[in-house]
Amino acid sequence: MMIYLDYAATSKKREYLIREIIENFDRFNGNPDSIHGYGREAKKILEESRDLIAKSIGASSKEIIFTSGASESNNTIIHNFANKGFIVTTKIEHPSILEPLREWAKQVVLIDADEDGLINLEKFSNAINDDTKLVSIILANNETGAIQPISQIRKIIGDRKIWLHLDAVQAYGHIDLDVEALGCDSMSLSGHKIGGLNGFGILYLRKRVDNLIFGGNQEKTRRAGTSFLMGAYTMAKSYNYMVDEREKIEGLKAYFIEQLNENRINYEINGNLGNQIGHILNIYFPFTKSKFLLTYLDMNGICVSAGSACTAGSLEPSHVIENMYDSQRAESSIRFSFGFENTKDEIDKVVYNLYQIQERMKNER
Ligand SMILES: Cc1ncc(COP(=O)(O)O)c(C=O)c1O
Repeated sequence: MMIYLDYAATSKKREYLIREIIENFDRFNGNPDSIHGYGREAKKILEESRDLIAKSIGASSKEIIFTSGASESNNTIIHNFANKGFIVTTKIEHPSILEPLREWAKQVVLIDADEDGLINLEKFSNAINDDTKLVSIILANNETGAIQPISQIRKIIGDRKIWLHLDAVQAYGHIDLDVEALGCDSMSLSGHKIGGLNGFGILYLRKRVDNLIFGGNQEKTRRAGTSFLMGAYTMAKSYNYMVDEREKIEGLKAYFIEQLNENRINYEINGNLGNQIGHILNIYFPFTKSKFLLTYLDMNGICVSAGSACTAGSLEPSHVIENMYDSQRAESSIRFSFGFENTKDEIDKVVYNLYQIQERMKNER
C-alpha cells in the first residue's frame, strides 16, 4: 500500500461520494441547461451545490461562478486587471497567478516573503498607491501553509479603489472563510483539494468582471461551457466532511513533528508553525537533497513533493522557499501534506524511512 502525503497537490477522492453518484446515476446524466426533465433534475443538483458552496464562504449564490478550477479563476482576475494599472502581488503566489501576470501584465509589483512565510507588510504598504488597481494574495500558501494576515492587508489598502483578490485554495475547508469578514472582492477555490473531483472550482465575485471564456450562456452569461455537475456536487458535499476532519488532520501534522524529534531527525521547519494551515508542513533536511529524498521515498511507496505539482514534474526547487530563504535551502526541502485518510501508522513509517536515509548519509560521509 502506498502512503499518500501529498494532499496539497490533490486530495484523495471520497469514494463514498462517487458511490452516491453511481447509486443515483440518472440524476447526474442531463445537461443542467436543457429544459427537459433530465436537464431540470441536473439543474436542481447544480444549484443546490452552488447554494452550499456560497454558504460555506458567507457569500450569496449569485456571487459564485463555476469554473474549471482555481487556475481558471485566477487567470480570469489577472486577465481583467492586466492593463488597468499597477498590480501588487507576492513572489510566493501559485503559478496560476504568476504565469498569467508574466504573459499579460506590464505593471506588476512583487512583494517578498520573510523567513516566517508571511509577506513583508512594510514593503507591501510602500508598494500600494493610487495607481494600484489590483492586490492579489495567496491566503494560505500551497508550499509552506503560511496564512497571510489578510485583515492587516485590508487595513493597509484602506478605502482606496483597489480590487482585493484572494487565492484561498489551500485554506478552504481547513479554516473558516467569510468573504465579508475578509473584505475581498473575489476569491478562487478548487474542488479537488478537499476531496471533490479534479477540474472544478469556483470564482467568487462581488461584482461582475469581463469573461475569460465565451461561447454559451451558462453561469448567467459569465462563463461559457457545459456545467461539470459531478464536480460541483462533490466539491459542495466535501466541504462539511472537511470541517469535521480538521482536528484529525492538524493532529497528524503535530504527531509528525513529534516523531521527527523523537527519532532525532535533523530538520528545520520552513516558515513558522504558529501561522500555518493545518495540513501543510514544509521541511528542510540539511543532510540531503530533495531530489534524492523524493526518489528514495517514492521507491518505498511514499508520495510527497517538493514545490507545487505544476513544477514537480521537473523537480525544480520551490520558488517559495527560495524567496523566503535561498536556493540551497530550497534544494533540500520537502512538502508533506496530510489528509482525511492518513493514519499515525503511516506517519511512523515515513519517519522511519527518513531516519534510514539520515543514517545512510552519515555512513556515506
Ligand atoms: C494555492 C493554489 N492556487 C491555485 C491552484 C490551482 O488550482 P486548480 O488545480 O483547481 O486549477 C492550486 C493548486 O495547485 C493551489 O494550490
